[in-house]
Amino acid sequence: MPKSRLVVDSPNILFTCIGRRVSLLNSFRRAAKQLKINISLLGTDTTELSSALQLCDKGYLVKPITHTHYIRQLLTIVKTKKVKLVIPTVDLDLKLLAQNKPKFTAIGCWVLVSTPEAVDICQNKFKTFHFLRKKGFDTPVTMSVATALSKKKLTWPCFLKPRDGYASRGNAVVYNRKELLFFSKRIPNAICQEFIQGIEYTCDVYVDFSMKVRCVVPRKRIEVRAGEVSKGQIVKHPHIMTEAARLVETLGAGPGVITLQLFVTDDDKVKFIEINPRFGGGVPLSIKAGANFPKWILQELLGKKRNIRFDGFKDNLIMLRYDDEVWLKNS
Ligand SMILES: Nc1ncnc2c1ncn2[C@@H]1O[C@H](COP(=O)(O)OP(=O)(O)O)[C@@H](O)[C@H]1O
Ligand SMILES: [Mg+2]
Repeated sequence: MPKSRLVVDSPNILFTCIGRRVSLLNSFRRAAKQLKINISLLGTDTTELSSALQLCDKGYLVKPITHTHYIRQLLTIVKTKKVKLVIPTVDLDLKLLAQNKPKFTAIGCWVLVSTPEAVDICQNKFKTFHFLRKKGFDTPVTMSVATALSKKKLTWPCFLKPRDGYASRGNAVVYNRKELLFFSKRIPNAICQEFIQGIEYTCDVYVDFSMKVRCVVPRKRIEVRAGEVSKGQIVKHPHIMTEAARLVETLGAGPGVITLQLFVTDDDKVKFIEINPRFGGGVPLSIKAGANFPKWILQELLGKKRNIRFDGFKDNLIMLRYDDEVWLKNS
């Protein structure tokens, strides 16, 4: 698509499945203010009972992603509101957006989503394992439940999780064959993974619009609530940063923020467990530390390129999250 069509003065942005992503929304507002530009922040959800939808400049109720009209509805919003960028916020519609990206680019709109092939690898944890292994990244040994059960010797405990899971749902630590058999019947599409002990990190990796990795921010997961970090700390860990950049480059993921999850073991190995090719829930920490992804994204939409790698973010910064309220006027 011709570059000139992407350069705009006041880009309208559409967040899909916006749910609770108030902090992300606000970070784009702040970035626009810093750049002294006017932007409209639009959002979609399937229900009005969505905190972030209420706080958008305009919220749209759309069909669930499984509905055949979902993409058509998004395209209509993009066309009528002259949206220049679509930002997915959860895993749900990544595959659909990736597959339909050409329809958006054809009407002059970027989508912050990876290729369908990359999304496919990320959304199936068994495929993620094979990809990581093949490309020489460290990751827990992973096998199907049937393979695990057929093994004479297994190291216990093992970690069971659905291969297409999210938000830590349906995970179980199993300590013997009996438990493995029991939980594998309850967890749909379960895979059996080596149980890793160590310090858990998330990494926000920024890939610019020319698909170059420009920034990697590791943050330690101090405490997690319902699968999302509630207490986190920036840790400039050089080995994580090198491996994370290499992983995202090898996968060819992006543009936008790619969220990686990994453990650093006691013997200092970096073991990747998950790749989420979208903004992660804990990204406000990286943004506050100075990795101003929303500003960089807006600058790219304005046609300003930044060709440098950035690692000037603030080390050790701690984020403690809390709940907030949104009140509906007409309720
Ligand atoms: N192999 C493992 N060993 C130990 N803990 C694990 C392992 N895999 C996942 N976990 C824990 O379970 C959480 C959720 O697993 P993850 O693979 O990130 O799936 P999802 O976030 O999609 O549910 C991780 O944040 C981590 O704390
Ligand atoms: Mg995860």
